[in-house]
Amino acid sequence: MIDTAPRDLDRESAALVVDGLSKTYADGTQALDALELRIPAGCFFGLLGPNGAGKTTLIGAVAGLVRAAPRRVFVFGRDAVTDPRSRLLVGLAPQEVRLDRFLNARDVLVYHGRYFGMGRLEARRRADELLDVFDLAAKQNTRSNRLSGGMRRRLLIARALMHEPRLVVLDEPTAGVDTEQRHELWRYLRRLHTEGLTVLLTTHYIEEAETLCERVAFISRGRIAAEGVPAELVSRFGGERLEDAYLEVLRT
Ligand SMILES: Nc1ncnc2c1ncn2[C@@H]1O[C@H](COP(=O)(O)OP(=O)(O)OP(=O)(O)O)[C@@H](O)[C@H]1O
Ligand SMILES: [Mg+2]
Repeated sequence: MIDTAPRDLDRESAALVVDGLSKTYADGTQALDALELRIPAGCFFGLLGPNGAGKTTLIGAVAGLVRAAPRRVFVFGRDAVTDPRSRLLVGLAPQEVRLDRFLNARDVLVYHGRYFGMGRLEARRRADELLDVFDLAAKQNTRSNRLSGGMRRRLLIARALMHEPRLVVLDEPTAGVDTEQRHELWRYLRRLHTEGLTVLLTTHYIEEAETLCERVAFISRGRIAAEGVPAELVSRFGGERLEDAYLEVLRT
């Protein structure tokens, strides 16, 4: 009891606690290797790492999409593997854009809201609000397969926010989004963050993480290689920009 109490408290105060998570896929690929991570509630957090480092696998475990061992991943204190209520707390914009091509943009959002237990009117109201915010109102009746790549990505992010999650997980949200829309998106994510949302973002644009994130972690071969405030990481590993620290950490 005495031993576990402080730990449980810590789990509840954090948006995400990953406590020694390993994942080996059926073909024997080890994607995560006893990974440890803690994201404070309300933090804008960036996860950076090379292709194949394990970012999407980790996110999949958080969102309940990748089978993982119980008692290793906690979202606001709830076990992400065994407690279905944890799903309501997480909004995920996946790396791979997969949308039902027979649904128009508005219905993608409304169906998602209904799936997550929202009433019809509430789902419609929220969908209209998000279509507006993500500059998709003019395309609301367009089927998802007729949207441009960047529009689809914005729709995915809007969908992740539909049910008002407390932790939003964005797996490379700005890949393929044009510069103007990217800045719009940054502005919107910042606003959500100031309203109390916790954001976990992966990106290969290191300057994006440097601009947006209060803390970042470098992931390499399924483990966290370094974690901290961007400016601290720069002074710890040398160089001038976060990119220098990143390259230095991954070199070793
Ligand atoms: N379904 C799967 N079956 C087998 N191996 C997988 C599966 N999904 C991912 N992997 C492997 O797990 C490792 C981690 O992949 P993951 O997708 O988590 O990396 P990532 O950090 O998201 O990379 P990227 O930056 O390219 O998106 C890789 O070696 C990958 O090939
Ligand atoms: Mg990935």
